Order: sequence, then structure tokens, then C-alpha cells
Amino acid sequence: MAYWAGSSEGIPTTMTNQEPFAAGAAETESTRGGVSRRSLLLTVGGAASMAVVPQVTAQPASESKPAASTARVRLNVNGTRQELDLDTRQSLLDLLREDLGLTGTKKGCNQGACGACTILLNGRRVVSCLTLAAMHDGAIVETIEGLEKNGELHPLQSAFVEHDGLQCGFCTPGQIMSAVGCIAEGHAGSPEDIRFWMSGNICRCGAYPGIVAAVADAAKRV
Ligand code: FES
Ligand code: FES
Repeated sequence: MAYWAGSSEGIPTTMTNQEPFAAGAAETESTRGGVSRRSLLLTVGGAASMAVVPQVTAQPASESKPAASTARVRLNVNGTRQELDLDTRQSLLDLLREDLGLTGTKKGCNQGACGACTILLNGRRVVSCLTLAAMHDGAIVETIEGLEKNGELHPLQSAFVEHDGLQCGFCTPGQIMSAVGCIAEGHAGSPEDIRFWMSGNICRCGAYPGIVAAVADAAKRV
């Protein structure tokens, strides 16, 4: 079976799963003066690990862990000014959930793949799990908690309820924040557009028909 094929001159253009084994099978103890590549690696690897392990375990814990640096960051979160001293490695998602108690923004994958943590940063939708808070001093942040105004749900929140745009609800804050951005960008003109421009927001319950209907409906109201 071929793994890949190339075309460089003088270089084999196809690697097969037979070749490495064929070469290895021919390489016996006798062909290399009694020392095969395998036995050499086992010997060297074993000696190396014996030599390295005591050094690593002898390190004091304080030397093996780099000290965290902090930064002062000012943010406007849902209309409220916040000034915080942050670990510079902290994500905006963790800042919102852990430091500000805004747990409406959900942590799904924590690696930018599901959209559950979508918020608006200076009016643009971003996945907050991949956004370093310390890099956005002075930014305006909007989360699901900031959509309701004077006791009135945002039109998108109402539309999600009316169109059954959710089942378990875990993805819903991210879906709604993404939909706010999608409509503002002018990308909610048709169900096809909505599916495409909201494709970064995954719903494990498969509530997509209701989500698309809700966004299309709300796009006419906002
Ligand atoms: S939690 Fe951020 S994209 Fe999944
Ligand atoms: S409603 Fe359950 S993941 Fe979307």
C-alpha cells in the first residue's frame, strides 16, 4: 500500500509499507558485525534514560515551573468597566467565567473547534477560548448576559425560544452571540448563508433547523 508519492529526481517517488520492513529484515546481527540497529538503539536508549532520569527528578519544583507574569487590563464588559490584574496566559473565556462569574459563555472544546464560547469583541465575533485577555486592553466585550435590555429579551433570544432553536442549550449562548455578529455582518440573508456563516458553531443535539429558522426570523426584526 502506498502512503505518499512524490516526484523529486533521484528520490523514491513512492513510500510503501513493505520497504521499511524489507530493509529491516535484511539487517541482521551478522550483517552489522553482530550489532543490529535495533539492539544498538535499545542499548543506547536504555543508557540514556538511566543517565537522564536522576537529573530530572533532582530538579527542585520551583526551578522547573516558570513564574507567571501579570498585566493590568481594562475592559468594558456588557457596559460595565472592569480593571483586572491578569495572568498573561489567561484566556478571555476563563476571565469571563472564573474572574467575572459570567458563566453564560460556555467552555466546550477549549480549542476553537465548537463555537460554544463565542462572544463579541469590539463588535466582532470571536472564540474567547483562543483569545488572550491580556492582548485586549481597552476592548468592549459583549456576552450573552448583556443582550437582555430592561427586562426584554433580545430578538434573537426570543426567536430561539419561538423556533425551538435548542435542546440541551449548551451551545445556545455561543449560537446566539454568533448570530448577533452574523446578522450585523449582513450574512443572514438566506438559510444557505446562515448555515455557511454560522458553521463554526456546532450543536451536538442537532437543533440546526430551529437555529437557522430563528436567525432568519430575527434578521427581519433587528
Ligand atoms: S470552547 Fe471555544 S471553540 Fe469550543
Ligand atoms: S442544543 Fe444541545 S448542543 Fe446545541
